[in-house]
Parts: sequence; structure tokens; C-alpha cells
Amino acid sequence: EKGGYDSFMEKEINDQPQAVADTLLGRFDADGRLTLDELRVSPEALKSINKIMVLACGTSAYAGQVAKYAIEHWCRIPVEVELSHEFRYRDPIVDSNTLIVAISQSGETMDTLMAVRYAKEQGAKILAICNTNGSTIPREADAVLYTHAGPEIAVASTKAFLAQITATYLLGLYLAQVRGNKFQGEIRDILADLAKVPAKIQQVLDSAGSIKELGQLMAGTSSVLFLGRHVGFPVAMEGALKLKELAYIHAEGFAAGELKHGPIALIEEGQPVFVVVPSPRGRDSLHAKVVSNIQEIRARGAKTIVIAEEGDDAVKAYAEHVFYVPETPTLLAPLLTTVPLQIFACALATAKGFDVDQPRNLAKSVTVE
Ligand code: F6R
Repeated sequence: EKGGYDSFMEKEINDQPQAVADTLLGRFDADGRLTLDELRVSPEALKSINKIMVLACGTSAYAGQVAKYAIEHWCRIPVEVELSHEFRYRDPIVDSNTLIVAISQSGETMDTLMAVRYAKEQGAKILAICNTNGSTIPREADAVLYTHAGPEIAVASTKAFLAQITATYLLGLYLAQVRGNKFQGEIRDILADLAKVPAKIQQVLDSAGSIKELGQLMAGTSSVLFLGRHVGFPVAMEGALKLKELAYIHAEGFAAGELKHGPIALIEEGQPVFVVVPSPRGRDSLHAKVVSNIQEIRARGAKTIVIAEEGDDAVKAYAEHVFYVPETPTLLAPLLTTVPLQIFACALATAKGFDVDQPRNLAKSVTVE
């Protein structure tokens, strides 16, 4: 049942090309038209939305943070992302023009369910992005977009995360299509890029030997930091969460630009820091900014481990280790850059002798508030 792997987690990491492909399957055609009829929300209703709020916890909330960058860029609708358990206790502003996107792998997370119920009472429309057919959150939602990652057994989420991100991209592109955004013309190209992602994830998996070795070598480490910018920021947070959950070591993710506002004080000789570097082909000076962050922490003794795009030779000079992922548009990059971080955490925890499928103190679905 573990498909020849030592753990469900390893199997599920390796299932990711399929999880993303299955989540895309049948949802758009070669002309770039999306058909999400399963949503059961009329195009009129989608046109009247003036705000999206993503509600989720843990890894699913990081998928929501990635979604914010993509959906705001594509649809020009403001997107807020909030932890479900914070949302309900602060008198949030939601009404019938708010679309709530509740992201939950299990569909049973009590914090998210309670937040959904609260938002529904305020008249908001609820769309669930969920991996579990017939679970409570999609049953109570007005609409559902299922992620087709297949059952996720390991407690720490991996393939469901990539499938959630994929589903939010589809949602964003569908909203752009329905609302007739001027961005329309690009939808087809983005869908074509998305269709190429599963094969690229496979490339990442096929070249993961070095990152696995690094995880094993670093089994004695007591603290690892993760930096990212733009969509790389939630990826950094997810990398840190995986390491906390699986290997029980202190790990923290930061927005690279935030470093100088405090966290850089943590950097001392030998501190390992993962840096998720944006594509050098991307917009603005994002890449240059992150490279200069790497220089700043290196000058203070950090041991930098860089996740960068193939062909980005500039980063080599500033990194102890570079792990390359295939080229892809910046907004889609989390589907690739997350994978080495998962593999790293899994390898390190395994080297420490921990059960990566059943980390201590954690449950697969958190059904208490
Ligand atoms: C992390 C992890 C948790 C879940 C969170 C939400 O690896 O698995 O952080 O992401 O408990 O769970 P769902 O998505 O089922 O609502």
C-alpha cells in the first residue's frame, strides 16, 4: 500500500505529479476554456463578488497565501487569507458579495468548519476546496472544488497542498474568465504552463538525491530558517512547518524582505538558511532583491541552501548548496519549489529515526476547536 516506499509520506511526495495532473484533469480544454460546472455557482453570482476571503489552517492556509498572489493578479479582486480560528473572533467584515474559500484537505477541521458556519450566517457564499468527498465542510458549502490528490494518509500534508494550490489557480482563472477580465488572453497560456507542471514535478523528484543526502547530513541541526519572497514566502513557511512537524527541530519561515526588520539578528556562524529564490526571468527586481538578502545573511555566517530556477547561475556564488527546479512562471513556481523542502524534512526526520507518517502530538484531522 506504500507503493514500495518506506513511508506513506515518501509515497505521497512521489504521488505529486499525479495529484496535480488529476486536479487539472477535465477542467479546461485546449482552447483555454475552463469548465467548473461542478461549482454550482452562477456566473452572475461570481460577477458580484467584491472580496474573497480564504479560511484555512496550517498547510492549507499556506495554499491560501499562494492563492492570494495569483488570484489578485489575475482577477483584480481583493483576497484576504485568514486562519479560521482567528477569523470568527474579531467581528470580520463579510456579506453576500464576499466569497469565502474554505480550504481543507480533510473537510473536517473544526476550526474551519466553525468559521464557515459563521460566514454563512453573515450571508457570504462559501466555496470549499477539499480533498475528501462528502466530508462536512463541502457538505455545508454552497459550492465545492475537489482536489483530486487521492487519500492522504501521512499526517503531514504534502500532495494535498500541491493539489490545493492547483485548485486555487483553476478558481482564479475561472473567475477571470467568467468576469471577462482584460487579462482573458493570457488564460490559455497559463493553463498550458500548468499542464506542463506535473512532468516538471517529476523532474524535481528524479533529481532529489542531493537534497535527501543533505537532509541526512543535517540530522544534527537544531535550527533551520527559511526565506522567501512573493509566492516564495508561503513556500518558506511551509518548508519550516514540515521540519517542525516531522523532525521536531526549531524552524521558522520569513519573508526575505522582513529580515532587516528583526530576524537577521538570529543569523550567526553556521546557521542553516534555506532561500527560495524567484525566477530571474520574473517581474521587477524580485530576483535581485532576494540575491542581495542571501549576500546579507552570508556575510553574517549563514550557511545558505538555495532553491533556484534552472539556469540561474548567479546564485551559485552565494550558496553552500543549490537545488535547481525547472523553469516555470513565477506564480506557478510553488508547485515546484515546495517539493525539495518536503523531501529535505522527510529525509532529515527519517535520519533521526522518527516516524514521518505519525509525528508526535499530531492528528490527521483536527476535529476539536
Ligand atoms: C501540516 C498539516 C496541517 C493541516 C491543517 C489543516 O502538514 O497537515 O497543518 O494542513 O491541520 O487541515 P485540513 O486541510 O484538513 O483542514
